[in-house]
Amino acid sequence: MTATSHPPSRRRASGVPDTPPTRAKAQPSVGSVLRWGSQGGPALFMERCWHRRSALLRGALEEAASVIDEPTLLRLAGRDDVESRLVIREGRQYTLEHGPFTRARFRQLPPRDWTLLVQGLDHHVPAASRLLDHFRFVPQARLDDVMVSLAAPGGGVGPHVDSYDVFLLQGPGRRHWRHGRQRDLSLDPDQPLKILRHFKPSNDDILEPGDMLYLPPHVAHDGVAIDRCMTFSIGFRAPEAGDVARGFLEYLADQTDLAGRFADPGRAATSHAGRLPPDLIDWIGSTIGRIRWRRSDITRYAAEYLSTPKPQVLFERPHAPLERKPFLAQVKRAGIRLDPRSILLYKGQTIYLNGTVVDPVDKAHVQWLHRFADHRRAQAPPGQALDEWMHVGYECGELLPGEA
Ligand code: SIN
Ligand code: CO
Repeated sequence: MTATSHPPSRRRASGVPDTPPTRAKAQPSVGSVLRWGSQGGPALFMERCWHRRSALLRGALEEAASVIDEPTLLRLAGRDDVESRLVIREGRQYTLEHGPFTRARFRQLPPRDWTLLVQGLDHHVPAASRLLDHFRFVPQARLDDVMVSLAAPGGGVGPHVDSYDVFLLQGPGRRHWRHGRQRDLSLDPDQPLKILRHFKPSNDDILEPGDMLYLPPHVAHDGVAIDRCMTFSIGFRAPEAGDVARGFLEYLADQTDLAGRFADPGRAATSHAGRLPPDLIDWIGSTIGRIRWRRSDITRYAAEYLSTPKPQVLFERPHAPLERKPFLAQVKRAGIRLDPRSILLYKGQTIYLNGTVVDPVDKAHVQWLHRFADHRRAQAPPGQALDEWMHVGYECGELLPGEA
């Protein structure tokens, strides 16, 4: 997703076949908790702050310090299936370069004032994908991805606003955030990034490893590295009206099949052959008026639209896929989980995985699919009705056996 006014766009990065798994040196402890401190907890936060006001959570997630190490991150930034950018500041002037970057490019960097941004970290690094488990109090349909920035002292992307909600989770090192709402959102035309011309922050926070700053959309902010540091941006998406409308009209085109054809017996002779006949326009109008859709079409379209991964996302087929029988035996033993790139959404019996409808057979399977979508992992489903669906999903790289 592209933030309309944010230099580090929230576009989803992609995965390709044959990519070696990346691993942080230290894995975050499974089952660690997000500490809400004075923010109370998810319910209070959503009521008071979400989409409305910023919030600072000190010591929110200790595991942020060990999500990814630098060599792994630099290797990711060298891949052409991973979206990366480099922002360098000289005085007040910024420059922007797009990846992939070579090792030599990193060696040439000055000791200060640059930041490397890598998008879609959750698609490539299991520990980053596990970070998202802490944010399941927000619907999956609103979640975008995890972006990481690695910055040298003085590095940052400059003062800007984003169009989306974001949690800025501090990894190793410290970053100085200044932020606040302001009326003047005019941009500096001389920068390659969307940088605010006048920045008047009203808040000032130094974030240490594990601290987290939540910012709703349109709050001006600027984060400058104090030490060499990493920051994880857990970003959210909000559909645009025009996009939804265009998509729904396409959906309707596939669903609509109106009978009939225009007829005009008794038409009088005309001396204005070029003029559109009003009765023909009226007929077209009444035909369009016959197009109908129901609430169930809207639900189906919403599920299809919101569960469709970005075009850049590619699923990795297993290198040596298990045959159906051993695969199912493994699921029985160890459960099943969604690939980090997969999106499974539901509303009642309407269930979509990555833009494709899932046809549950009975109530027990509907309930199982709901639980699977909520937790992204599950024990094996009852019976055999979903065996084929699970195995095909596994062969396509959308579902993975184990770690229920
Ligand atoms: C942001 O401002 O949204 C994140 C930028 C960064 O991590 O430097
Ligand atoms: Co931002």
